[in-house]
Amino acid sequence: MEAMEAILKRKSVRSYKQEAPTDEQLKALADAGLSGPGGGAVHLSVVQKADLIKRINDITKAAMLASEGFAKERASLPGYEPLYGAPVLMLFSAPDQNGLANCACAAENVLIAATGLGLGSCFLMSIKSAFSGSEGPELLKQCGVPEGYTVCCGVIAGIGDGDKFSSANRKVRTVNYVK
Ligand SMILES: Cc1cc2nc3c(=O)[nH]c(=O)nc-3n(C[C@H](O)[C@H](O)[C@H](O)COP(=O)(O)O)c2cc1C
Repeated sequence: MEAMEAILKRKSVRSYKQEAPTDEQLKALADAGLSGPGGGAVHLSVVQKADLIKRINDITKAAMLASEGFAKERASLPGYEPLYGAPVLMLFSAPDQNGLANCACAAENVLIAATGLGLGSCFLMSIKSAFSGSEGPELLKQCGVPEGYTVCCGVIAGIGDGDKFSSANRKVRTVNYVK
């Protein structure tokens, strides 16, 4: 798939088959992520352990339910799981103040590459709460996040399975041209 086609086709996928992407596909996603523009260090942890992903899911869900507004509404939907049953969670972490920008650039590359490879994916910020709570230090260690790094965002990836939990499109995007 051409780059432009993948960019225009990308959309958030929120339901996954159990079947995991291949190691080659995951390597391609990691290469794409680490090829993004960067103004500082970024570490990528590719988490494939089902029990660890489930734990991050459950802590995230509890934090969403304890919050207010949109996150609470989403987590209260019947059958809602914030990691949507995805077999892979990619965590982007960084040590400094530019971390979120650096990690988001890397993550967007992964989303586009996943689309190009025919995989589903979704950008996640909700998981940050799992790493900032009381279980955070232990989870960071288990995911291999380097000492002193903060998880800035995540991407789930896998083989898409329908259109469950698609949210209303939250994008507000405008453009003007000055000639
Ligand atoms: C900063 C940011 C945080 C997001 N966090 C989440 C999240 O925690 N969970 C989720 O399901 N989607 C999350 N998304 C995905 C958006 O909901 C999604 O991109 C938006 O609804 C537009 O839909 P699209 O990606 O299909 O174009 C996030 C996107 C951004 C940019």
